[in-house]
Amino acid sequence: MSKIRVLNSKQGYNLLVDYYHKKEKYWDSFEKDRVLSLLGDVNNKKILDVGAGTGRLASRLVKLGAEVTALDVSEEMLKRIKIKTKTKIEIMVGEAENLSFSDESFDIIIATFLIVHLKDLRRFFDEVYRVLKSGGLFLVTNINQRKAPEIKTKEGIVEIESYYHRPEAVVEELENLAFEIVENKFVNEGETWINQIILAKK
Ligand SMILES: C[S@@+](CC[C@H](N)C(=O)[O-])C[C@H]1O[C@@H](n2cnc3c(N)ncnc32)[C@H](O)[C@@H]1O
Repeated sequence: MSKIRVLNSKQGYNLLVDYYHKKEKYWDSFEKDRVLSLLGDVNNKKILDVGAGTGRLASRLVKLGAEVTALDVSEEMLKRIKIKTKTKIEIMVGEAENLSFSDESFDIIIATFLIVHLKDLRRFFDEVYRVLKSGGLFLVTNINQRKAPEIKTKEGIVEIESYYHRPEAVVEELENLAFEIVENKFVNEGETWINQIILAKK
């Protein structure tokens, strides 16, 4: 039996960038168009996409007139955004738990398919609260993934360090920081929820 290597997000996504990028439609299916519609009119809004990856949503937000900053630990994922958008988008390598922005910098912050890779949600949510303007919106999704997928690569089988977060625990962490929960929706497949979509307000 071959051994599975567990990689951190930076190593993992730098290696798996092609695998992730090719499956955009599949990732979309966890949202069923219910994410961006929650944000309302984003024209001229300052938006931070944390864990932006290859810019699946960042590129759409730019097209809708938003001023977007895309942040990610994986420089290889971020490189794809430049190729794809060819539009003005601020790209930054950085960590979700340590955002290098001044207090109250953004109107909206989004984080889709990110928290599955964060062990300590409080550190990230704390930072989001700090850099969000008063009355600003935070859209976060929580995939129902109890076990990280094992992915075959030329370098053997790998998985990316992942953590399961109970939906109630995510809401509780946000409320503890004084976020107001505006929406808490679930995307289902059959009887099971596959993705939790939360819109919170500072
Ligand atoms: C599953 S991808 C999601 C990409 C994009 N948000 C989307 O919805 O398609 C997760 C992304 O989060 C990034 N990431 C993981 N941990 C991170 C951290 N602590 N800080 C910043 N980015 C992180 C990964 O590098 C990866 O690009």
